[in-house]
Amino acid sequence: MMVNVGVIGAGRIGKVHVNTLATRIAAARVLAVADISLEAAQSLADQYGATRATDDYHEIIHRPDIQAVLICSSTDTHSQIITEAAQAGKHIFCEKPIDFDLDRIDAALQAVVRAGVQLQIGFNRRFDPNHRRIKQAIENGEIGTPNLLHIVSRDPGPPPLSYVKVSGGIFLDMTIHDFDMARFLFGDVEEVYAAGGVMVDPAIGEAGDLDTAVITLKFTNGAIGMIENSRRAVYGYDQRVEAFGSSGSASSQNIHPNAVTISDERGVRRDLPLNFFMDRYTESFVVELEAFIKAIAEEKPVPVTGADGRAPVVIALAARKSYQENRPVRLSEID
Ligand SMILES: NC(=O)c1ccc[n+]([C@@H]2O[C@H](COP(=O)([O-])OP(=O)(O)OC[C@H]3O[C@@H](n4cnc5c(N)ncnc54)[C@H](O)[C@@H]3O)[C@@H](O)[C@H]2O)c1
Repeated sequence: MMVNVGVIGAGRIGKVHVNTLATRIAAARVLAVADISLEAAQSLADQYGATRATDDYHEIIHRPDIQAVLICSSTDTHSQIITEAAQAGKHIFCEKPIDFDLDRIDAALQAVVRAGVQLQIGFNRRFDPNHRRIKQAIENGEIGTPNLLHIVSRDPGPPPLSYVKVSGGIFLDMTIHDFDMARFLFGDVEEVYAAGGVMVDPAIGEAGDLDTAVITLKFTNGAIGMIENSRRAVYGYDQRVEAFGSSGSASSQNIHPNAVTISDERGVRRDLPLNFFMDRYTESFVVELEAFIKAIAEEKPVPVTGADGRAPVVIALAARKSYQENRPVRLSEID
């Protein structure tokens, strides 16, 4: 069965997803693209043969020939669009995070349950073959009892200030992926302690955000973890994970465009790692959307649910409180 899709938001991630659907997923077809910038919607639609571009997402939500919508617009629009799309009976794939506010998340999730539609949240890193192998190693008992989790997650450069201002801040926008990865690999978190700073761009601080952070985590199973973030790693996208346990460790390294090492009298070096998420996580975007389209076509549950979307928001809100109050915060204080 062919799943007809409408895409809302034609920015960075909207482009990635439309490209993936159009070029890699035979079971899906993009019929329409919406963006408040009609020009952005039109140019993306034209590029991939979608027949309709609009500046009003309601048009997509109310089209009877569209079964699923992808919400790729700015974070501050997600919960409202989820609610409206669910009420219109559409299945939904929504980018992370669902929202910054738990009441709004709960209202959106209730609308989804009431409508009986599917909702998948865009935690694409769960579909990366490296992170998946670490998960498998943990599940197979290859590292024994999990003790320590270390996640290094640094972007090559900060997003534009206009994005920062509606992003919800570093913990909700960027670390949210790492909080999800922590849950994916080690299970539920019960306490966090965050330190942060503005070391990349003072304008990010003036906008009320941080660009550098370290968060320690205590998991319900007794394990502990550490996440570190920077909005600027001059050598490219730095994405490494190590899970350490009683009988070993499972770790992943950055991915490079080639496997060549150059050795000369000055030193031994490699080309820089893949530069950002569009390159580093390409395969994960394909696999996550394949899983979504398959779940819709076969009427099976989606692999990353609304509850999986809500849980890291609670961790992020706890991290923000921890930073603001300079003390460890238990998740029970938030939720
Ligand atoms: N999973 C990932 O790796 C990943 C990567 C990047 C972004 N994201 C998430 O995707 C979302 C978008 O991020 P981005 O980097 O593409 O941002 P972006 O600013 O490049 O694009 C957002 C687009 O949404 C449009 N938009 C805003 N309000 C709208 C509305 N009401 N209706 C239709 N279009 C609207 C904007 O005009 C813009 O074109 C964010 O929630 C972000 O957290 C996820």
